[in-house]
Amino acid sequence: MIMRGGTTVFVLLLWWLLAAPPTSYCANVTYDHRALVIDGQRRVLISGSIHYPRSTPEMWPDLVQKSKDGGLDVIETYVFWNLHEPVRSQYDFEGRKDLVKFVKTVADAGLYVHLRIGPYACAEWNYGGFPVWLHFVPGIVFRTDNEPFKAEMKRFTAKIVDLMKGEKLYASQGGPIILSQIENEYGNYGIESAYGSAGKSYVNWAANMAVSLDTGVPWVMCQQADAPDPIINTCNGFYCDQFKPNSNQKPKMWTENWSGWFLSFGGAAPYRPVEDLAFSVARFFQLGGTLQNYYMYHGGTNFGRTTGGPFISTSYDYDAPLDEYGLIRQPKWGHLKDVHKAVKLCEAALVATDPTVSSLGPNLEAAVYKTGSTCAAFLANVGTQSDATVKFNGNSYRLPAWSVSILPDCKNVVLNTAKINSATMIPSFIHQSLNSNVDSSEAIGSDWSWINEPVGISLDSAFVKLGLLEQINTTADKSDYLWYSLRTNIKGNEPFLDGSQTVLHVESLGHALHVFINGKLAGSGKGNSGNAKVALEIPIALSAGKNTIDLLSLTVGLQNYGAFYDQTGAGITGPVKLKSAKSGTTVDLSSQQWTYQVGLQGEELGLSSGSSSQWVSQSTLPKNQPLTWYKTKFDAPAGNDPVAIDFTGMGKGEAWVNGQSIGRYWPVYVASNSGCTDSCNYRGSYSSSKCLKNCGKPSQTLYHVPRSWLQSSGNTLVLFEEIGGDPTKISFATRQIGSLCSHVSESHPSPVDTWDADSTSGMKAGPLLSLECPFPGQVISSIKFASFGTPHGTCGSFGHGQCSSSNALAVVQKACVGSKSCRVGVSINTFGDPCKGVTKSLAVEASCTKRHAQRIHL
Ligand code: GAL
Repeated sequence: MIMRGGTTVFVLLLWWLLAAPPTSYCANVTYDHRALVIDGQRRVLISGSIHYPRSTPEMWPDLVQKSKDGGLDVIETYVFWNLHEPVRSQYDFEGRKDLVKFVKTVADAGLYVHLRIGPYACAEWNYGGFPVWLHFVPGIVFRTDNEPFKAEMKRFTAKIVDLMKGEKLYASQGGPIILSQIENEYGNYGIESAYGSAGKSYVNWAANMAVSLDTGVPWVMCQQADAPDPIINTCNGFYCDQFKPNSNQKPKMWTENWSGWFLSFGGAAPYRPVEDLAFSVARFFQLGGTLQNYYMYHGGTNFGRTTGGPFISTSYDYDAPLDEYGLIRQPKWGHLKDVHKAVKLCEAALVATDPTVSSLGPNLEAAVYKTGSTCAAFLANVGTQSDATVKFNGNSYRLPAWSVSILPDCKNVVLNTAKINSATMIPSFIHQSLNSNVDSSEAIGSDWSWINEPVGISLDSAFVKLGLLEQINTTADKSDYLWYSLRTNIKGNEPFLDGSQTVLHVESLGHALHVFINGKLAGSGKGNSGNAKVALEIPIALSAGKNTIDLLSLTVGLQNYGAFYDQTGAGITGPVKLKSAKSGTTVDLSSQQWTYQVGLQGEELGLSSGSSSQWVSQSTLPKNQPLTWYKTKFDAPAGNDPVAIDFTGMGKGEAWVNGQSIGRYWPVYVASNSGCTDSCNYRGSYSSSKCLKNCGKPSQTLYHVPRSWLQSSGNTLVLFEEIGGDPTKISFATRQIGSLCSHVSESHPSPVDTWDADSTSGMKAGPLLSLECPFPGQVISSIKFASFGTPHGTCGSFGHGQCSSSNALAVVQKACVGSKSCRVGVSINTFGDPCKGVTKSLAVEASCTKRHAQRIHL
């Protein structure tokens, strides 16, 4: 075709506009009743949260690429004030804190950013993201109409906005940021009202302050029904289909769809079945939503002392589509990817109009988006018990309970949320000894050196005070640890000399404590995520004359949620009493003169880097001794698989690799025995305690060590152990993919990528079982199981049913072995019919290995 010059230029310009990533031109972002409007186009946007400090800059490009591959358009992150301003006016944007680099990484992949500046974050993050120095600003009251607080909040918010503007990162400047959030869930369940009328004026102030910063893109407030115009109020929760923004001029947006839930030390591991998560997403788009965000899409790791709490674990895996280590979690990632494609097939119809919703029977609902020639429909069965057949536009559709079918042409089903076409992958951890260069377990001990942390007061900074002090006000969170030390004189005639009858009674606001009597550990206590307080009665043996009572109180992440949460104290506020059971005598020690020490000697000496001359390595390694620093050298496990350290055998403490804190470890905190289910019924409303696993097991044994923190050899591992453990039991675990499985029935829709908008039947392929090895260079090496008929079980435990075709294994082997990916038709055309009149399915378990280098024959 011959085009005139002007047309060529126009076509090229159009091509450039369409193909260029969103970073390359200034976008005008506004909104209306239906959607965010980017450069005049209403958009359906799929978003996912990735918090930059919960991974490393080396991981970011891969995480963002996997997000893009999973169908995301937007990455949402909080900004963590306490990371960036650890000391007032001293800013830090280096390494994992390099917010600009993170935003640019997202832009480089062509995705948008939603920047939740807060600066209150919640997020299971220490102190909700506020720096602890903020607490000491004279006259301050957080999150209310309080001048000192507002001045600090405005200063930091403006600092971040200026930083972004300076780098031209707002969409209005050609950057990727299309949205920003101010505050976080202030309107949630009684929080705002707890601050009285000042709560309302604070909301209005925060809104005006944000708008005055002139970012050129809209602001949101989540869970804030009274968010003033032009701020968009958005929804957070497990479901947001019933949510309505507070004005008809604002779009319905979902800033946190919880993809799972967070783990606490002492808790079982929550998981959210993907059928339910997919259902919640489809319901949201069915009923008028146009932007939804997974909280989290990648949860990652709470390195250092960044966990909130108290008692939030170091892992922040969240059962997210990308697991803690950054590997795709299947079938969650893949099924959601299919949901996103299905929703996007409806985009033109979705943004054009409001849905027309009608009932198709009890618990059965249709929503139709129709204008002119475009039509998309969602059919839902919100019942929890029975599958149903519905009539819609003259056709009949089978709807499993608690599912939504998506019909991009109002006729053909491209996806049903309860029917998973995506493969499942069972991850496995391969263990290997830390000191692989030494063979005997005794010899491993010789690779360790140690330093004892003194019991009680050892630093010059110690000070004396009458009475018991609250911990956070005393330590300013410089350390988890605060020593409360008392010397007491027991006279020969006092009743407390009878060892079997004397107890020390200690009450603490939390979070945990260790009691040392005359230098020996006498007992420990800990709170839990529901109640941080500790009350202990410990039998103790005192001797006549001078005795020392040393109480080591510790925090495990500062409170991050609730009205006035910053005022939740910690530490041994008492009473502390000596009790003699025999005589009934009680002596209250609370108001005596206590000596205090903030932090440990080892912290003061900087032992975490490993570089001190005091490390001892000659004699036998002390094991199961409280208050011990340990150090060893190790080589990184070969390969590129993500690495974790298994702390089984240790008690509680913190660990550093090459000077970088990998977080608090606490493998002896075991989850209760009850409340878990192996196969959680996804039908019905999800809650954070509905689906739990790992009951009766340690909440967390494996701790992520980012690959980029490791050299191939000569790495230093330092631990501080509080309670006592055996470091020679520590091992590595590398995260790998075990089996690859899929189970697809004849009633499944064809894979969503076979959809053909031009064909009248939508999809002709019929149901297909698809397998794909997750890593480059891998091929399917064997088929461990294949059955067409009525197979049962789950990945790793499939079994043949009564009906099974005899050629399934051979057919699947032929189609798959030796290939990176394969597709097999789930139909009697492929396998013959082993049982007429029965709905059949195909179940396959396969394994992938690296393709062997091929020999070239000359
Ligand atoms: C929300 C909060 C998030 C996070 C989440 C639970 O209420 O906005 O920051 O804490 O709960 O993971």
